[in-house]
Amino acid sequence: MNTRILVVYYSSTGNTRKLAASLAEGAREAGAEVRLRTVAETAPPEAIATNPRWQAYVDSGPHAELAGLDDLDWADGVAVGSPTRFGGPAAQLKSYLDTTGGLWAKGKLADKVATSFTTASTAHGGLESTVLAINNVFYHWGAIVLPLGYADPHLRETGNPYGGSFVSRKSAEPDKEALGALRLQGTRLARVAGYVADGLRAR
Ligand SMILES: Cc1cc2nc3c(=O)[nH]c(=O)nc-3n(C[C@H](O)[C@H](O)[C@H](O)COP(=O)(O)O)c2cc1C
Repeated sequence: MNTRILVVYYSSTGNTRKLAASLAEGAREAGAEVRLRTVAETAPPEAIATNPRWQAYVDSGPHAELAGLDDLDWADGVAVGSPTRFGGPAAQLKSYLDTTGGLWAKGKLADKVATSFTTASTAHGGLESTVLAINNVFYHWGAIVLPLGYADPHLRETGNPYGGSFVSRKSAEPDKEALGALRLQGTRLARVAGYVADGLRAR
């Protein structure tokens, strides 16, 4: 049976979406079956309209395929991504995570392998605090938290050991280095989630 990976993210101007796609690609390369899903945009239209890039992103129709609780239940491994918002994850992503209480109460989220990623406009603007805040949810789920680490030489040059990340200030969209790190994160997630899932199925 293929390892099942859910990649779920929120994005308002497309950066996190590109990181999510690269992570999904890495997981697929490792042989996993992958679902790539976003979460609902809940900001009021007047707030979205204040930022032409946000408006253009919403108009491009990225919210056609939203993550459901069934996707989370299905997955052996989960990658969760959000842009950094005032040093933490976006409320839109948190709203989705806050619907998982029913699965949590039934113990359905325990033993999933979980990892997180982000993008912020500045290097010291909260990349790590966002990743760590997302990871706090994983601890409550009883998930196995998977950091990115420095295992691959590419990550020693460009990585963030806490989780894949991208500093967007001087670039319209994620660069080759960041996308490479996210791809490695996806490969690592698929591999480790596969080990755990095989062990659980063999019980
Ligand atoms: C309301 C708001 C809060 C933000 N807070 C931070 C922040 O705390 N630190 C930072 O470096 N960037 C911050 N940013 C910038 C975004 O994290 C950054 O532009 C990111 O690359 C956007 O990703 P996206 O295209 O997936 O939405 C903020 C942006 C918005 C709109």
